Amino acid sequence: MAIRTILHFPDKRLREKAQPVTFIDDEIRTLVNDMAETMYAASGCGLAATQIGVPKRIFVVDPAAKDEPSQLMVFINPEIVARSGEAIWEEGCLSFPSVNEEIKRAKRVKIRALGLDGKPFELEAEGLLAVAIQHEHDHLDGVLMIDRMSMLKRKMITRKMEKRAQRGNRNQSEAST
Ligand code: NI
Repeated sequence: MAIRTILHFPDKRLREKAQPVTFIDDEIRTLVNDMAETMYAASGCGLAATQIGVPKRIFVVDPAAKDEPSQLMVFINPEIVARSGEAIWEEGCLSFPSVNEEIKRAKRVKIRALGLDGKPFELEAEGLLAVAIQHEHDHLDGVLMIDRMSMLKRKMITRKMEKRAQRGNRNQSEAST
């Protein structure tokens, strides 16, 4: 297992559309383990493969609160097949450090995917899990949370992240939060 580097906006690879996984082999199992380790190391509750520069349709989510035992969920070739209701949650993203903004999404979703064992499953989710599923699913299509904000917010955050990237280039030792 290894911790991979999480790409930060405006890295162009975050805009890549991920391709379906054709076969779940050791390479995919290692990738998924690394994704989980990377997510936990960054204290995130979700991570898509595109965020570590691997354009494959895989994401991991853990909706457990900090004082609860972990509940790692793996989604391979996920497809959101139903959405209902409306909910606004304050979201963050490991590719946008220190950005937290309210975003409107469906309140409930139904998702189909393959598990790490290659078996298809279907899941109905609401609350934080539904938000995380929609957020991570967007990543696989190169869609980022700023795309779901007002034009003004999007511009402000883009400017902030661009400045941050310039600072980061000058000082590689800057700790990422
Ligand atoms: Ni994200």
